Amino acid sequence: MKPTTLTLAVSLTDTPGDPVEGASIAGSKKKGNCVACHQVSALPDVPFQGDVGPSLDGVGNRWDAAQLRGILVDAKKTFPDTVMPSFHKIGGFIRPGNGFTGKAAKEGELKPLLGAQQIEDVIAFLATLKE
Ligand code: HEC
Repeated sequence: MKPTTLTLAVSLTDTPGDPVEGASIAGSKKKGNCVACHQVSALPDVPFQGDVGPSLDGVGNRWDAAQLRGILVDAKKTFPDTVMPSFHKIGGFIRPGNGFTGKAAKEGELKPLLGAQQIEDVIAFLATLKE
């Protein structure tokens, strides 16, 4: 397995991830939309899969759950120059602006792209992608 700089061994929630829900999040334009950048053979019904990032086929062999959690929460910790969004980054922003006023955002105003349970569901789905 490759090294990651952010590994999160502890689940973000008390509820185990649901791989079926995770598949739906990964394939949904409104939620994770992972397929905008990644090809996933396990989601044959999702059209227009992207190739900006590597195919996620076999990703369950390449990374363990703690590493996947780190990649999903804040991809830039593992891939510093990546275009992959940080899906559950809730702190450590450098003066993020409020989109409407242009002023600095207030504490708690920035919502992560995916909630904690959604992250766990996606990890459970990715863990099933083995070759
Ligand atoms: C805007 C494009 C984009 C989106 C959206 C995106 N990613 Fe990525 N992802 C990337 C790129 C590019 C990489 C390769 C890392 C790099 O930049 O060097 C990557 C790498 C990864 C890796 C490591 C892959 C490997 O085999 O080494 C995983 C796992 C991953 N992404 C999962 C996801 C998941 C799950 C989602 C949806 C919740 C997602 N990504 C959404 C662009 C994206």
